Amino acid sequence: MIRSVIAGVGAYLPDNVVTNAELAKKVDTSDEWIRERTGIRQRHIAKEGERTSDLAVEASRRALLASGIDAGELDLIVCATTTPDQTFPATATAIQARLGMIRGAAFDVQAVCSGFIYGMAVADNFIKTGMAKTVLLVGAETMSRLLDWNDRTTCVLFGDGAGAVVLQAAEGDGTNHDRGVLNTKIYSDGRLSHLLYVDGGPSTTGTTGHLRMEGKEVFRHAVTNISASIVASANEAGIPVSEIDWFVPHQANQRILDGTARKLGIDSAKVVSTVAQHGNTSAASVPLALATAVADGRIKKGQLILLEAMGGGFTWGASLIRW
Ligand code: ACO
Repeated sequence: MIRSVIAGVGAYLPDNVVTNAELAKKVDTSDEWIRERTGIRQRHIAKEGERTSDLAVEASRRALLASGIDAGELDLIVCATTTPDQTFPATATAIQARLGMIRGAAFDVQAVCSGFIYGMAVADNFIKTGMAKTVLLVGAETMSRLLDWNDRTTCVLFGDGAGAVVLQAAEGDGTNHDRGVLNTKIYSDGRLSHLLYVDGGPSTTGTTGHLRMEGKEVFRHAVTNISASIVASANEAGIPVSEIDWFVPHQANQRILDGTARKLGIDSAKVVSTVAQHGNTSAASVPLALATAVADGRIKKGQLILLEAMGGGFTWGASLIRW
């Protein structure tokens, strides 16, 4: 059986850091409120003129370097983003051009904060079916461009960044001892789109629009849906949740991470949290957290890693990987 093994991870955060205290000078909020309700201490905001693809290319170069794979070997680039450079062409094609990849294909996946998990499902299936051998999966966002900076209930939560992985086909024996992606579970429920959305778009207002959210409702659904997808992924692989070494969640809010861990009886020391450093970077947050835990040596070869996310749509899902 063909498995998709992660050969390298990379991440990039723009240089410009905005602390809670700095934000509180412009918006009616406080460092204390933001930290207590979300765990966020700061976010990185792309400079004027800095595009989603700029962040994506940096993260991609780092992932390629870590994997020892040349961009010319890539068969496919999948970019998960909800903040593309332009309505079209796909940001993935901008990344393709800048990396100097002149073969294969590149396209975007849009599942908001769950984009990286959806992208993982796409990349893994391309590899498992033999349509691609080497895939670059990027999650990249400039969420700052979608924020209403007068709305304190949303603008304090988000930030910009990018993370990437290179996946490569490898032979496995089809058991859960194989290295690589063991499974990916993805779900959506379009009936709940009104709880988290952007109030604009090409076919409605003709403008980009601003992010709108019913925070309390999103919170409630997040813990329930994320927990269910973790259990579904673990069950399908025949692995008890307690045997998973590291949980690498979408970094939306520390309270969502804590609530999910509590609900499933997960030791919070096994949950990788980077939300304090960069806030909610949507599709970029899972690979940003993954890159952190790989770089600091927490994630080791052979361990079981569970990636999960939930976002607008609603969309949600989980991916179980043996490192
Ligand atoms: N600073 C100060 N006060 C604020 C701020 C702020 N930035 N924002 C809201 N408040 C006030 C409210 O006006 C309210 O005041 P009131 O009691 O006088 O009416 C009070 O704080 C409490 O507001 P709530 O909305 O009840 O606060 P809550 O505890 O629900 O926390 C939060 C809000 C942080 C948004 C929370 O609901 C949440 O994290 N939800 C999940 C949303 C999320 O993470 N979305 C990201 C995308 S989806 C995903 O990635 C999972």
